[in-house]
Order: sequence, then C-alpha cells, then structure tokens
Amino acid sequence: MSDNVRPRIDSLGNWKRTHGCGELGADDTAREVLLMGWVNGRRDLGNLIFIDLRDRDGITQVVFDPQVDKESHEKAHVLRNEWVIAVRGVVAPRLKGQENFSLPTGTIELKAQVLKILNRTETPPFQVDGAVDASETLRLKYRYLELRRPQVFKLFHQRHRIASRIREGLNRRGFMEVETPFLTRSTPEGARDYLVPSRVNRSRFYALPQSPQLFKQLLMVAGFDRYYQIVRCFRDEDLRADRQPEFTQVDLEMAFVDEDAVMGVFEDMMTDLFKEILGLSIPSPIPRIEYHDAMDRFGTDRPDTRFEMEMTDVSDIAARSEFRVFKTVCEAGGVIKAIRVKGGAASFSRKNLDELGAVAAEHGAKGLVSIKVGPDNGWQSSVGKFFADEVKSSLNERVGATPEDLVLMVADQPRVANPALGAVRLAVADRLDLIDKDRFAFVWITRFPLVEFDEAENRLMAVHHPFTAPVEADMALLETEPERVSARAYDLVVNGAEIGGGSVRIHTLDLQEKVFHLLGISSDEARDKFGFLLEALKYGAPPHGGMALGFDRLVAIMTGAKSIREVIAFPKTTSATCLLTDAPSEVDRAQLQELGLRLMDE
Ligand code: AMO
Ligand code: AMP
Repeated sequence: MSDNVRPRIDSLGNWKRTHGCGELGADDTAREVLLMGWVNGRRDLGNLIFIDLRDRDGITQVVFDPQVDKESHEKAHVLRNEWVIAVRGVVAPRLKGQENFSLPTGTIELKAQVLKILNRTETPPFQVDGAVDASETLRLKYRYLELRRPQVFKLFHQRHRIASRIREGLNRRGFMEVETPFLTRSTPEGARDYLVPSRVNRSRFYALPQSPQLFKQLLMVAGFDRYYQIVRCFRDEDLRADRQPEFTQVDLEMAFVDEDAVMGVFEDMMTDLFKEILGLSIPSPIPRIEYHDAMDRFGTDRPDTRFEMEMTDVSDIAARSEFRVFKTVCEAGGVIKAIRVKGGAASFSRKNLDELGAVAAEHGAKGLVSIKVGPDNGWQSSVGKFFADEVKSSLNERVGATPEDLVLMVADQPRVANPALGAVRLAVADRLDLIDKDRFAFVWITRFPLVEFDEAENRLMAVHHPFTAPVEADMALLETEPERVSARAYDLVVNGAEIGGGSVRIHTLDLQEKVFHLLGISSDEARDKFGFLLEALKYGAPPHGGMALGFDRLVAIMTGAKSIREVIAFPKTTSATCLLTDAPSEVDRAQLQELGLRLMDE
C-alpha cells in the first residue's frame, strides 16, 4: 500500500485503507492512518480497550481511549474475535515497558479516532491464532480460517515466490509455458486414473492426466524445443504425508539434449531458488550416485545424505563365523550388511534395540544382530560366541568399529537386507538426533534399472515409465537380460525425499515398440492405447528428454512444512476427501442418467 495515501473517508462515505496491519513502525509516529482487518484478540480494561488487529501482513495494536474519542470507545466494547473492522487513528509509540519486540509493529500502537464495524462473526469453531491446537478435521473443514493466520499466509507467499522465480528463470532460458489437456485418455502403466464420463460420447471416459508426459513429448515432435508448465497432475493412489491425489509439477521437456543438459537446468534452478529465497548456497555440481550404489550404501534410492553411517557389506567375514543364520544366508547367495553407530553402545538399551529390530522386521528382515564393542574391542552380543576373535577383529576393522561403538547387522537377500538396514539407519539417526535440520543435502540418483519384475503383476514393469530410453551400451541386453539394462533416468533427492524425476526418452518407433513388447504390451494393445504416440514417432521425432519436479514437495522442504498438505491451499485428507466441500459427493440420479451410468449397488 502506498505510503502517501491520506487516510480518508471519501465523499460517498467509502473508507480507504492506507496500510497493512504489519507495516507500521516507529517511523510512522504521529501519522494518521486507516487500517482494516480482523479482531485477533481484545483486552477490555474498562477505561482502555486494546484490540489486536490482524490482516495477512501482521498484527497492529489498536487502543480505544474515551479521552481520544468517546464514541469509538463505546462501540469497541462490543467487538469480538474475528469481527471485521476499519479503524482510523494516529500512530503513537507505546509506553516504555509496554513494547512487544517479537512483533514488527510492537513498538507502536494506533490511537483510534473512528471505528467502523464492517462485519460481525459467529463464534468461530476454533481460535484463529490457536488453530494449531484444533483437530485436523476441524481445520480442514474451516480451512479459510486457518489460512487467515499470517504465519500460514507466509507459506503461500513463499509458494508464490518460488513459482514466480521458477517461471522467470525458465522464461529467460527460452522455455515456453504451454497448457496441455486435462480431459485426456486413460493409458495403462503408472498409478490408477481418475475417470470422467462423457455425456456426449456415451460409455466413454476421459482420464485426468497423471502427468503431461505424452503431450510434452508430442510438443517436442512439434518442434517446440523447450517446454515447461507448472501443472496439476491427478493420481488415484494410496496417500501419505507426501502424496496428494492432485498435486503440482514443474514439468519440463527439451529437444536435442542429453541427460546432463536436463539435469543442468534443474541444478541451476535449485541453486538460484535456494540462494534467492533462502539465502543458502547448495553444493554445485550436485553429487550423483548410481542406483545400485545407493541401494548398497543407503538401502534406498532416495538416501538422506545429511549424515553418513553408510552400510558396509561384511558377508565374506560374517560367513566365517559359526552363526547358523549368517552361514545359511551366505550359502543362499544373500548378503550380510552392517552399520556402525559411532559411540552408540551406551545410547541403546535392550528396549531401544528391540525397537530397532521391529523397524527391520517391518521391512521384511528376519532379525537384527547388535554388537556393543567393549573397551578391549571385545563384543557384547548374543552372537559373540559364534565368532572367533580373529573374525571379530576383521569385522570391527571392516566397519571401522572401535570401543563404545554399536554395530547393527541384517542378513538376507539384498532386496530385503538393504532396505531393512536402510530403515534402521534412519531410525538410529532420528534417535541420536544426527540430522542437521537446517541442512539441505541434494543428490542425483542415476542409472536406474529400465525394468524390474513385478511379483504381483507377474511381468516386467518400467521402473520410471515406458517412454524412458535404455542406456546405449546396454542395448544388446534388452532381449537377453532386460533386468540388467540401465535406463537413462535420473531422480533428484533432497534430505531423503524424491522431489523430481525424469529421463531421456525413446524417440524412434522401433525401440518404443521393442520396449512395449518387453513390458508385455502386445502390438495390438500398444496400437490401441498408445497409437497416437507411435504415430507421432513416425514423423520426425527429435531426440528429447525432460523431467518433472514435485512442486508441493519442494515448497514443503523449502518452508520446513511437515507435510505437503500445509502448502496446498485446499488439500485433501489421506482418504482423498475434501472436508470443506465434502467432495467426493453423491450426484443426482438425473445426472447419472444423462451420462448413461447406473450405480452397481442400486
Ligand atoms: P514422477 O511420477 O516421478 O514423474 O513425478 C515427478 C515428481 O512428482 C512428485 N509426485 C507427487 N507429489 C505429490 N503427490 C503425489 N501423489 C505425487 N506423485 C509424484 C514427486 C515426483 O518426483 N512424467 C514424469 C516426469 C518425466 O519423466 O519428465 C513423472 O510424472 O516429487
Ligand atoms: P536366533 O538364533 O534366531 O535366536 O537369532 C539370534 C539373533 O540373530 C537375534 O538377535 C536375531 O534378531 C538375529 N537374527 C536372526 N535372523 C537374522 C537375520 N536374517 N539378519 C540379522 N539378524 C538376524
């Protein structure tokens, strides 16, 4: 708001606001101003009435004093929390000792001359500034009241700044924002689709896009060269704290590029955002870890690299023990993985170790061996008796264990042992508070497998999506050992969360057909479901690649929000409902009839 606007009530009696409620400070002393906002709190001392007036910018203390204006003082007696008012008055310094240095406006107050009540309110279901204590159900039902808090507004202001900065950066680099359809066709692969019935075309359905993947590839065939879109995506999947049925992506595609070019754009974007928005420099280049290496060292393809405590393979040493479990696992081609918790011997009681064992078990492990290393490098462990001294020292040496350390081990096939010990690694870090919460540790994960065998579906599935190109050098394995083929795919991970992923795409018809075939999609089905893509690949598709960033996740990480729900204005619950509008809802029978639909349980 402009500084020079004179507070006034114009000839029609309209009140003009001069400032926001977070703007005034000592420099404004003696200035005549007009504020509008909500009553955040009131203290009625009889002769003096104090009102905290709130808007999106902050809070200003207003004081009604009969010596200044009798009428407004009288009126102010009836004010209640969340009433909407306009106040004209003069800015004055607060009395010594009455300042509130935690508020930007805390050294001044507004001495009210005129009060106008703009709207009254029913008693709100919860105190706006105490919203954090209300139940989530109530907060989501009255989300607009929660959003009224300046702290919450700030999150959305940050979200807006981040989006604006991304747009500016991409525009500057020659990217162009193009909108793609929301009403599109259902394609197999990926999550479940949200379907939309067509009235005009009976028995037919649109699907809401899970991402603009195929359209952005078509824009590359069209020669648009550099596309982006900050776009909503829809996925009918099981929700968690970091998943919503509709969420926003920063989606991007480039022609005539390799993976380095795409990753470079996102690296520059992250560097710029963290510098401009948070004033932080992130290491450049962002380190890269190959998928298999990440699984080996961290047990996950989204490692939290804010702390070390990496896993070590001790199979060869553990196989020399007499511990039956370890021997059997080794004979069956499994692995024994270990982490060393520096100085951890004293920090974990029997009960704590059982809790860690439960974490390992949740991830399929059959047990968790723990060893407390004593002052003489000896072991305090239930399996100690199975290890000769020489084997113990080799193991200590391999994992770098010295007195006072704790060593934790899981034995199983790598697909169980790695994730299980990876989860234990996170639980230990959490318990010992090893994670520096102010740090942002970025890492690229590269060389994902192209496909993996899905037990439930009993077929090979694309790890990224079926349009991802295989690594050139692995092309010969495509027919013989497809699970050993690497993909030209990459994920961006920060602090253990996947915030983006992309790949170089297949741009020739031959290869796309071959990969569909590999995934068990027959030629007929491919033509039926992906005909438009296959057709486009016939007409001069350039080499291309791209990536999409989970925008809600990025904003949550940059603002320190615990869940992406906090940074989505009107989020859904974990059962995909909107408590505010009560969606999804039943619809009129007439509506269904028009669509040619009948419910099964009717
Ligand atoms: P992908 O499926 O990996 O890739 O999605 C990209 C990023 O979007 C975020 N994300 C989600 N965020 C919130 N709620 C969800 N339900 C959700 N699902 C995904 C993640 C993820 O990294 N078309 C490809 C990208 C490409 O190849 O260019 C795609 O959609 O942060
Ligand atoms: P047991 O001999 O089955 O009583 O197991 C002795 C110890 O080995 C217990 O602490 C178990 O948790 C642990 N254990 C059993 N199976 C495994 C395994 N596959 N990996 C790691 N530890 C195991």
